[in-house]
Amino acid sequence: MTSAPHVPVLLEETIELLQPRPGRRYVDGTFGFGGHATALLDAGAEVLGLDLDDRALATCRDLAAARPECHCHYGSFRDLSGALAACGWRRVDGVLLDLGVNSLQLDDPELGFSYRADGPLDLRFDREQGRPAAALVAELDETALADIFWKWGEERASRRLARAVVRARAEEPVDTTGRLAAVITDTLPRGVKPMPTLSRVFQALRIAVNEELEALDEAVESLPGVLNAGGRFVVIAYHSLEDRLVKRFIDRERKDCLCPTELPVCACKHARSLRRLTRGAVKAGPDEAARNPRSRSARLRAAERL
Ligand SMILES: C[S@@+](CC[C@H](N)C(=O)[O-])C[C@H]1O[C@@H](n2cnc3c(N)ncnc32)[C@H](O)[C@@H]1O
Repeated sequence: MTSAPHVPVLLEETIELLQPRPGRRYVDGTFGFGGHATALLDAGAEVLGLDLDDRALATCRDLAAARPECHCHYGSFRDLSGALAACGWRRVDGVLLDLGVNSLQLDDPELGFSYRADGPLDLRFDREQGRPAAALVAELDETALADIFWKWGEERASRRLARAVVRARAEEPVDTTGRLAAVITDTLPRGVKPMPTLSRVFQALRIAVNEELEALDEAVESLPGVLNAGGRFVVIAYHSLEDRLVKRFIDRERKDCLCPTELPVCACKHARSLRRLTRGAVKAGPDEAARNPRSRSARLRAAERL
């Protein structure tokens, strides 16, 4: 199955917030197919692109070969300062994280990101690291699997689905996307459309396998340390838990004191490090949502380093 090349989400809003211009340096922590990065370069900025996906990195290297202001690093945004150091940089004027998968990853059955085509149940961004989803599905007990479906997929039938997977794997390994999709589909009451449940289950496994929330948490916590004063970051999330994590981080970092209100004097000595740039999450408008279905679940938040 093929689809249109990856279309960057909330592009105009991102560029407006990041304010790229000649002499400024940015990290695009999720380079993908370079939609956002190209717009940053077009505005005259220097860009370091990170990704864990081979094809995304190859695209970044092609762009870097044509444009000397573009640099590439194979690595996770989890370690932003390590990526900067690898490029000989210490701080930057902006960081972009456009989370999740790119369209080509979704379309490649070999990566196992989609239940729509049969392939190995892998779901890793970086196939050199960690364990594929098939290993989790083979080894975790019913409760641990149900917890993953519930926590990262917000799947209400998590226990029933986990029980079905554990039963099915006793007969035959559940190690392909097709087999997992069949097991889940067979568990649903007759007449229930399987797509939403399959999306939630695959999303939950992807988040668990790639430790996506942990990676995002480490990345945002490192932002005040990697941004120049006045530097800005934009995070585009497609999952409510990711968006909540970013919102809470900004809310905490824009306050001087984090003590409970009943405490008469501040004991925490926390000093604010950010100015919030987006009040609520920025969402795609109706035109973009119609043009690019991926944008419908996008939630953008941004802040500036003080
Ligand atoms: C939504 S796409 C980014 C699309 C990009 N903004 C564009 O316009 O083409 C997300 C990308 O982030 C990458 N990715 C996911 N987790 C990552 C991580 N922890 N570190 C670096 N890249 C990651 C994926 O491989 C994917 O290519």
